Amino acid sequence: MKNFALIGAAGYIAPRHMKAIKDTGNDLVAAFDPYDGVGIMDSHFPNADFFTEFERFDRHVDKLRRQGNPIDFISICSPNYLHDAHIRFALKSGCDVICEKPLVLNPWNLDAIAEIEQETGKRVYSILQLRLHPSIIALKEKIKNGPKDKVYDINLNYITSRGKWYHRSWKGVLEKSGGIATNIGVHFFDMLSWIFGEVQENLVTSINSETAKGNLKLKQANVNWSLSIDYNEIPEQVRLQGKRTYRTLTIEGEEIEFSDGFTELHTKSYEEILKGNGFGVMENKTAIEIVSKIRGNR
Ligand SMILES: NC(=O)c1ccc[n+]([C@@H]2O[C@H](COP(=O)([O-])OP(=O)(O)OC[C@H]3O[C@@H](n4cnc5c(N)ncnc54)[C@H](O)[C@@H]3O)[C@@H](O)[C@H]2O)c1
Repeated sequence: MKNFALIGAAGYIAPRHMKAIKDTGNDLVAAFDPYDGVGIMDSHFPNADFFTEFERFDRHVDKLRRQGNPIDFISICSPNYLHDAHIRFALKSGCDVICEKPLVLNPWNLDAIAEIEQETGKRVYSILQLRLHPSIIALKEKIKNGPKDKVYDINLNYITSRGKWYHRSWKGVLEKSGGIATNIGVHFFDMLSWIFGEVQENLVTSINSETAKGNLKLKQANVNWSLSIDYNEIPEQVRLQGKRTYRTLTIEGEEIEFSDGFTELHTKSYEEILKGNGFGVMENKTAIEIVSKIRGNR
């Protein structure tokens, strides 16, 4: 049984990590979040220590290590721009790391983290759950077994409406979330580059705080992508069904269905990491480079 700690325990995604820790037969011994609305912990780990001040959490993690009962893994569910600092803290505290997407905001952060992994002998794994989705795994196999020189035409349109709160939260602040192409799109850019190979060209045709569109040429794909959080972008017939999300991914005009099971993959991610099959720091590089360039970094 491994000891876990969790950073960002009060947020939306944290319960999936709590469930994954439990489902894989491990223990959550400590959690930290500056916001104290963490009643959800009672459903999973009522005995875990909880801290709202980083200094006291740091002290506790250090104390456990010195007492011979160290934390093995720190899971990170904090806002995107803090992942880099929280990963560094966890590694330097002698813990392995499981971190939410995007692992970091910029590619150069990855190099620094890889250096700290070397220094500490600890490892960082990321949640790239689409790579574990059965439909996506099947698609990867199909492309791998198809003609190597074929360039597939892909259309991705993903609209996941968000209310006004989004722009008031860290998610609506470019420096904190990376904007929608980073915060929402990174899943898809990772999955597409994982399957269709390295980037040849990365063009943005329009971008604002609600919607981003562009064209991404990969070794084996020409991807027209559109991402949005604007409810008005949802096709009318979909809106009339009362839906607030619309997702379509076509390859050569054929729809790839992966709506189901998208939210069930945290436990699977943990299982694979604990078996030694996790996705490490450098496996994030291509997608982080793509989204960083979309934000205008060269
Ligand atoms: N894999 C997925 O499908 C998926 C889905 C949603 C979110 N995410 C990722 O998970 C992470 C959290 O997203 P969320 O939707 O839960 O956001 P959230 O805003 O609901 O939760 C973030 C939590 O971090 C806490 N926090 C703020 N400042 C902090 C600090 N200095 N130290 C520690 N914690 C701090 C907040 O109080 C909050 O409880 C993000 O990186 C996001 O991109 C992944």
